[in-house]
Amino acid sequence: MAVVGDVRGKAVLVVGGTRGIGRAIAERFAEHGAEVGVTGRNAEQASEVADSLTEAYGQPVSGHALDVADRALVREVVEEFESRRGGLDALVYNAGISPSFTSAEKVDDETWDAIIATNLTGGFVAAQAFARRLIDGDRPGSVVFIGSVDSVVGDPRLVAYTASKSGMAGMARTMAVDWARYGIRVNTVAPGYVATDLTAGLQQNEKLRQAITDRTPMKRLAEPKEISDVVVFLASDSSTFITGAVYPVDGGWTAW
Ligand SMILES: NC(=O)c1ccc[n+]([C@@H]2O[C@H](COP(=O)([O-])OP(=O)(O)OC[C@H]3O[C@@H](n4cnc5c(N)ncnc54)[C@H](OP(=O)(O)O)[C@@H]3O)[C@@H](O)[C@H]2O)c1
Repeated sequence: MAVVGDVRGKAVLVVGGTRGIGRAIAERFAEHGAEVGVTGRNAEQASEVADSLTEAYGQPVSGHALDVADRALVREVVEEFESRRGGLDALVYNAGISPSFTSAEKVDDETWDAIIATNLTGGFVAAQAFARRLIDGDRPGSVVFIGSVDSVVGDPRLVAYTASKSGMAGMARTMAVDWARYGIRVNTVAPGYVATDLTAGLQQNEKLRQAITDRTPMKRLAEPKEISDVVVFLASDSSTFITGAVYPVDGGWTAW
């Protein structure tokens, strides 16, 4: 009997897979029998994650050092993983930062550039490198971008982050249209607030945490693993007619 979301034997690269949501996604793929590559800026940390997932699930998981600000290195890592493995079935672009919480008129150039480079440009470069390899090899594949509720709605004091995540969803839609003829699907998963390092500041601030939970119909933050199953589904052959979509996983945030 066919299993929904079956990724056994597929090769998946999770860009930004060392912590939080990305690590939970990498873990879910390994648990489901995929061969996984995880990247992070620190080589040692990437290797540690890879070793621990290999040990836990008996799947080959490799760790790669990658700063997504380095375009040449992004291309190199995608190509290296793809050619070493003899094919790459899915790319998950999860790397993201949100270092600033400031009203739009106060955001400086450096902050804007860093957020756009990490959250948006790195995703473009990685997905393009992945698609070029698939097109050259005449193989289908799936790109999953980790967006945000800010891919869909505005968010106070997060102008650069919102621009990056809305840009990501728009970019994904156009890639989906451009690459449909090659059998390459491109989708965006849009989480609400998740308990990770990225949101540590707001979790520790009682007023902010309360404002977030009040605004969320489910009245809580998500755990990282709650984001992972839809990503596995979108990488699998259970979703072969789904492309250009934005999937909210947000406890109802964008429902009102
Ligand atoms: N947490 C939330 O509430 C939430 C909500 C919606 C969407 N998201 C999105 O989900 C994704 C993951 O967020 P998270 O909460 O899990 O964050 P996190 O715990 O801070 O993890 C971020 C991940 O991105 C990687 N990363 C950051 N900058 C990088 C760079 N320049 N080059 C390569 N890798 C880089 C980090 O790796 P290293 O630090 O090891 O390099 C890490 O693996 C992000 O795209 C974020 O925008 C998060």
